[in-house]
Amino acid sequence: MITGTGSCAPSSSAGNVFFERLVDTTDEWITARTGIKNRHIISGETLSELATAAARRALESAGTEAAELDLIICATMQGDYIIPSMGCVVQREIGATCPAFDLNAACAGFLFALDVADGLISSGKYNKILIVCSDQLSKFIDYSDRSTCVLFGDGAGAAVVERGDSLRYIRICSKGDADLLSINSARPKSPFFVEGKSQGYLAMSGQDVFKFAVSAVVGSIKEACAAMGITPDDIDYFLLHQANGRIIDMAKSQLGQPCEKFLTNLAEYGNTSAASIPLLLDEQRRKGTFKRGDMLAISGFGGGLCWGTCLLKWAG
Ligand code: COA
Repeated sequence: MITGTGSCAPSSSAGNVFFERLVDTTDEWITARTGIKNRHIISGETLSELATAAARRALESAGTEAAELDLIICATMQGDYIIPSMGCVVQREIGATCPAFDLNAACAGFLFALDVADGLISSGKYNKILIVCSDQLSKFIDYSDRSTCVLFGDGAGAAVVERGDSLRYIRICSKGDADLLSINSARPKSPFFVEGKSQGYLAMSGQDVFKFAVSAVVGSIKEACAAMGITPDDIDYFLLHQANGRIIDMAKSQLGQPCEKFLTNLAEYGNTSAASIPLLLDEQRRKGTFKRGDMLAISGFGGGLCWGTCLLKWAG
């Protein structure tokens, strides 16, 4: 069960008007086609600092000391270093002594980390695991490409996971594909490497990713409900990966559910990749949205392709 959450966003932000000066776009287009109004982008601080702050806040909300942790799992595409892992950086900064590692499931990172954490806790090996999800997409964005640069922001979210029965269902899925969404790894110059084009930038077939996202979210939530013998009507809140407001709208209508069950913070943060779901979860926990016993459906999707859904009874 999730016993604590935390999050941290960069202090600098860029509203839609900023992008009007950068590329051929308008606030109206971005708002209507994505629902995004603002995004927070790292300029002064580092991703490790955001991840560490989110981790500390999650520990505090769980009433847990770093020394009590059995494992730290960081979901990230890339931290400030290739090595040490973001997990090891966070471990040092919070003063933990447990093992720590990173996993990369792009924007679905929280679901993947939660499934791993749940498996290790269920096996009896560990009792307390810290999940930290942090991504800095601004490192990989071509700020002359209007179809991608307006979508993403940076951020970090974290959760403490402990033994308990509140996680009722979780399933993660992958389908290897580098055509719809990819980031080439930029390589340093060497006598052996012939430089290709667009190294290190995010490339995306927007409409195809859109269709994949809607079918992954709707399909996996329906599958989760069927496995638990419930229907989407029995879900109190849906927390979907915050990528595009129209993806969330289509999921709403295909699941036949009212607006108020779908929590969002997309307008303020844009798509923060792995951080998106724990950032939303933490904001809503702090607002006091959830009451004990509420059923949450949490669903993420992203590059890989990777996706997953969990059903969680809020333990409060
Ligand atoms: N401002 C103005 N026009 C833009 C624009 C922008 N920021 N970005 C793209 N356009 C233009 C395109 O160039 C195209 O112009 P054209 O008709 O002259 O060729 C037109 O808008 C329509 O493009 P299209 O790609 O069909 O738009 P869309 O409605 O599908 O919206 C996305 C584009 C990227 C916002 C949308 O496809 C999307 O959000 N996809 C999912 C992306 C995602 O979630 N990725 C992360 C997954 S974790």
